[in-house]
Amino acid sequence: MTKIAVFASGSGSNFQAIQEAIERGDLQAKVEVVITDKPGAFVVTRANRFGVPVVELAPKSFESKAAYEEKIVAELLSREVEWIVLAGYMRLVGDTLLTAYENRIVNIHPSLLPSFPGKDAIGQAMEHGVKVTGVTVHYVDAGMDTGPIIAQAAVDVVADDREATEERIHKVEHELYTKTLQTLFIARSQLH
Ligand code: GRF
Repeated sequence: MTKIAVFASGSGSNFQAIQEAIERGDLQAKVEVVITDKPGAFVVTRANRFGVPVVELAPKSFESKAAYEEKIVAELLSREVEWIVLAGYMRLVGDTLLTAYENRIVNIHPSLLPSFPGKDAIGQAMEHGVKVTGVTVHYVDAGMDTGPIIAQAAVDVVADDREATEERIHKVEHELYTKTLQTLFIARSQLH
């Protein structure tokens, strides 16, 4: 059973999809903790519903990014967390976390990277008038959505309808993330 932490800043629909996949038995993992940098974000409500512990930290209340991340690392180590799963965590991961969890941090991004990295990827794609966009799961490095790609899926844009496009993307995200995590955890556990 792989012990994971989910990091989220907002709604947390990907967290919920992961937790539901675990409860269905489709993902052999346990969410030991949800970490949020936005106290009171909706992901906290979702985590409470599932009885998953949450750590809410306001980065501004720390003297530096390193101090903020050291606190996170201490929380993760005390729970023996093996993997960090970013799901709408709107912050660049710094050296402290990258060093503590080298090659064990993954992210999901709502575009076919390397197209449209950064904020509002769906808006960027629609602005450019692309007909097909998608979802990418990738390892996290120090850059903005730049780490090695693990899995991708294409999603057709619904012309002039952001809401419908977003809905399609989220649906694909929820499926792709849980499937990819399961494959990744199994592959890694066979190496040990
Ligand atoms: C998702 O689109 C994810 O790809 C991006 O942020 C969004 C988070 O959505 N990184 P949610 O909070 O999981 O609903």
